[in-house]
Amino acid sequence: MVALSGEIKEIFTKTKVMPMATASKSGVPNVAPMASIQLVADDTVWIMDNYMQKTLENLKENPVVALYFYDQGTKRCFQIKGSTEVRTSGPDYEKFRDQVRTKGHHYPAKSLIIIRITDVFECTPGKEAGKKVL
Ligand SMILES: Cc1cc2nc3c(=O)[nH]c(=O)nc-3n(C[C@H](O)[C@H](O)[C@H](O)COP(=O)(O)O)c2cc1C
Repeated sequence: MVALSGEIKEIFTKTKVMPMATASKSGVPNVAPMASIQLVADDTVWIMDNYMQKTLENLKENPVVALYFYDQGTKRCFQIKGSTEVRTSGPDYEKFRDQVRTKGHHYPAKSLIIIRITDVFECTPGKEAGKKVL
């Protein structure tokens, strides 16, 4: 696992919506916007499954994910890859469910997706593009 820090962490935490990419076991890709995202530790992200369909199916058969986040001000962009775990009960699930529901009581909060960050890459256009940074 790798830990976010400095500018990467700052940009991550201020990003409101991130595209979340998954793939089926046979390699069919899928991407969907996610906003119920929290960096709970420098190496761990929580995302709430409110309305996931293909995303959740993919995670069950191929538990890896990619996200990217982009800062309009600095034009910096980073990609994160991670391994995932899906939880539908327990203290972490309940904590995040309650937190998400304070923002909107209608949110189904079906499951907690725990992402353990394994890699970070630069996606800022230019000579650093694609470089593994963590
Ligand atoms: C701005 C925005 C934020 C969203 N945030 C979430 C989220 O945090 N969790 C969630 O489950 N769905 C969220 N959605 C809805 C999913 O992106 C949507 O249900 C999508 O169909 C999921 O992809 P899938 O059906 O391929 O799994 C969001 C949608 C938008 C437009």
